[in-house]
Amino acid sequence: MSVSIKSPAEIELMRESCRLLSEVHDELKKIIEPGITTKEIDAVGEQLIRQRGCIPNFLNYNGYPASICCSVNDEVVHGIPSKKRRLQEGDIISLDCGLIYKGYHSDAARTYGVGKVSDEAQKLMDVTKQSFFEGIKMAKAGNYLHDISNAIDDYVTPFGYGIVRDLVGHGIGTSLHEEPQIPNFRQKRRGIRLEPGMTLAVEPMIAMGGYEVCWLDDDWTVVTEDGSYASHYENTILITEGEPEILTLGK
Ligand code: MF3
Ligand code: CO
Repeated sequence: MSVSIKSPAEIELMRESCRLLSEVHDELKKIIEPGITTKEIDAVGEQLIRQRGCIPNFLNYNGYPASICCSVNDEVVHGIPSKKRRLQEGDIISLDCGLIYKGYHSDAARTYGVGKVSDEAQKLMDVTKQSFFEGIKMAKAGNYLHDISNAIDDYVTPFGYGIVRDLVGHGIGTSLHEEPQIPNFRQKRRGIRLEPGMTLAVEPMIAMGGYEVCWLDDDWTVVTEDGSYASHYENTILITEGEPEILTLGK
């Protein structure tokens, strides 16, 4: 498998898949408040996806048991929704969500504060989100893939945060995960050359402390080794000759 270049017709399907996902995220944002369980968030998310005639692409992916990944505080990604996990004021929660529309996948993640959060937690979320935008400034035809990785690292590292290395972004299209892999930290090689028609999921995962992570016994939930809070921000983008199109942002 190599990196796929989407045809104009495929790009239209990717746009619609991603637009629908942005609607799902906008709705999910509204229900994040103290007292809700992550299981309830997942149920709402699955319903929002199915109401739009789409399929949750995470559900049963390598056995993943839900439609949304709900990762709270020191959980970085792939937190499994649970009726025992009730959000509390001051938590931060990453919602990672994707869907399939007419065979085309979309993927995006947001991290939210629950009620009022500490200034430190807010800054972590702000820097993580901004690192995505810094990275994709480099995401244009003729540049190299790792220009994105290096730009994210250059922006994040001065804050003293840890950039998760064990998980990366990815190409996306008729599969959730396509080539290439997209690291969020500095690379020695420059990587492939970017071409118009590539669709990529760029997803920095940033920890307040060290970058080391480990997996819980559920075999899914990734947590920071030092217990520090982590934030995640992801959009599916389209490479063009000029500025990239951020497909999962909506209006
Ligand atoms: N956005 C994540 C990713 O790109 C979520 C997929 S993991 C799943 O890898 F198993 F939950 F699907
Ligand atoms: Co992804």
